[in-house]
Amino acid sequence: LSGAGISAESGISTFRDSNGLWENHKIEDVASPEGWHRNKSLVLDFYNQRRRQLFDVEPNKAHFLLKDLENHFEVNIITQNVDDLHERAGSSNVMHLHGQLRKSRSTQNPSLVYDQMDDINLGDTAEDGSQLRPHIVWFGEGVPMIPNAIEWVQQADIMLVIGTSMQVYPAAGLTEYLPSNAQLFVINPDDNLSFGDSNTHHIKAKATEGMSELFEMLVKK
Ligand code: OAD
Repeated sequence: LSGAGISAESGISTFRDSNGLWENHKIEDVASPEGWHRNKSLVLDFYNQRRRQLFDVEPNKAHFLLKDLENHFEVNIITQNVDDLHERAGSSNVMHLHGQLRKSRSTQNPSLVYDQMDDINLGDTAEDGSQLRPHIVWFGEGVPMIPNAIEWVQQADIMLVIGTSMQVYPAAGLTEYLPSNAQLFVINPDDNLSFGDSNTHHIKAKATEGMSELFEMLVKK
């Protein structure tokens, strides 16, 4: 399970760290259905900027090591991230819980989803004639992929939780579905992150360093 912290070393801001995205933007303005109804231009501009940034960033060692783990394990990645860095690192099985920047969708019909490399502008429409919106799960909206994510966690022998503050549900509740004999590893430099479970192995490091350490441990085993 990955969060914004895995992409931090690629140069993408996290949400809740100091100077994170939610310090400079109001969630209710740019990441809620109400914000969208109030000011579509503001919301489109926010995600257009995030999408443009993807042209300037690259996957980092943590993304690549997750890909390399596929040589030794069956790896399924559940990500809360809306960037495409896991895919660009070559990971085969990536599930986006909160949507994807490089997709857009109809405002009327959530199943009309399109590839979107460039800006979405006011007046850009889906084939049903409705305004296109970012393919992002906003606060207050359902998380349609969560049952599939739960299924992956229930089948895991090892779970890695990398670079997430575990503050946003339902994603933060996924570890509860881990079988009791499975191992849980957390990579996060934050000392205060608590999983309340003595079986959790917390590697207090940045994603690239923590993944290098964990890769050695898992592959040597
Ligand atoms: P947060 O910004 O809440 O948390 C980022 C976490 O990454 C923090 O726990 C940091 O300690 C950690 N971190 C920072 N730098 C790191 C690094 N180099 N290596 C490893 N960890 C690092 O981001 P998320 O938990 O991903 O949703 O946030 C969850 C959701 O909240 C997002 O998907 C987004 C946001 O609102 C939507 O927009 C729908």
